[in-house]
Amino acid sequence: MSRIAYVNGRYVPQAAAALNVEDRGTQFADGVYEVMAVVGGRLIDEVPHLDRLRRSLAEIEMRPSMAAGALRAILRETIARNRLVDGIVYLQINRGVAPRAHAFPAQDLAPSTVITVKHMGLPRDPDTVAGVAVITQPDIRWKRVDVKTVGLLANCMAKSRATEAGAYEAWLVDGDGDVTEGSSTNAWIVDRDGSVVTRPLGNDILPGITRASVLALARGHGFTVVERPFTVAEAKSAREAFLTGTTAFVKPIVRIDDAVIGNGHPGLATRALLGHYLDYVAGQGAAA
Ligand code: PDD
Repeated sequence: MSRIAYVNGRYVPQAAAALNVEDRGTQFADGVYEVMAVVGGRLIDEVPHLDRLRRSLAEIEMRPSMAAGALRAILRETIARNRLVDGIVYLQINRGVAPRAHAFPAQDLAPSTVITVKHMGLPRDPDTVAGVAVITQPDIRWKRVDVKTVGLLANCMAKSRATEAGAYEAWLVDGDGDVTEGSSTNAWIVDRDGSVVTRPLGNDILPGITRASVLALARGHGFTVVERPFTVAEAKSAREAFLTGTTAFVKPIVRIDDAVIGNGHPGLATRALLGHYLDYVAGQGAAA
């Protein structure tokens, strides 16, 4: 079945979907986005995703392009038209179309809104989940990566290095030798004391929705959770390492650069957290 995209008020075959060549999203990466998982036809964590979208828009000085209720209805309609059961929805809102000039236009533009879907299998079983490798790369991104803008070139470059190295993800490293996050996921370790550790929120990481859900689940299930920075060296000698994100869910890491993590197999805490997250997702699918 060919996919249907939503573009500026119309549902069109994706192959025919297009934006104006002077859309500021294409010329300046002047836009924001969200990626939401769909499980059993239901959006996962829709409310926090839309809250983060609103925050991203405010941070780049844009007004919401439409009321939240209208956006939610369009998301559902796009899922339905694509008969999407398991996969993701991609939502992008650009500032709009104007003759190319760096400064934001004095008058508000009509924002461009694009929604596409992708059918894909999502993780299911914590006992058979495969561990992945990550490599480390310098974090060369701008200083406001807490805003989910479409300006992702540095992330793409880092991920490409990872792919070339046969790794799943690149962990980005700041000037102090601390891991900030992955190119499209948040970074975690289980330290020598058995605490679940992830970097605190700030301008230097994306406030991941999966991160927030996993933090709450970890606390609720009695894990000791510490939000603090950690170095690459600490991660390499950690008991466990894992990453979180909308499509990855909770993914065990078994190698960082040349260092094997733990016994080289997905760790116990990581698998437990994936199990809790899968239950949480299944609960939303059933109840929503
Ligand atoms: N990426 N960090 C970065 C830089 C990200 O781009 C993402 C999400 C995350 C994880 O956030 P969340 O749990 O809300 O998905 C962390 C999306 C999925 C993407 O760009 O495709």
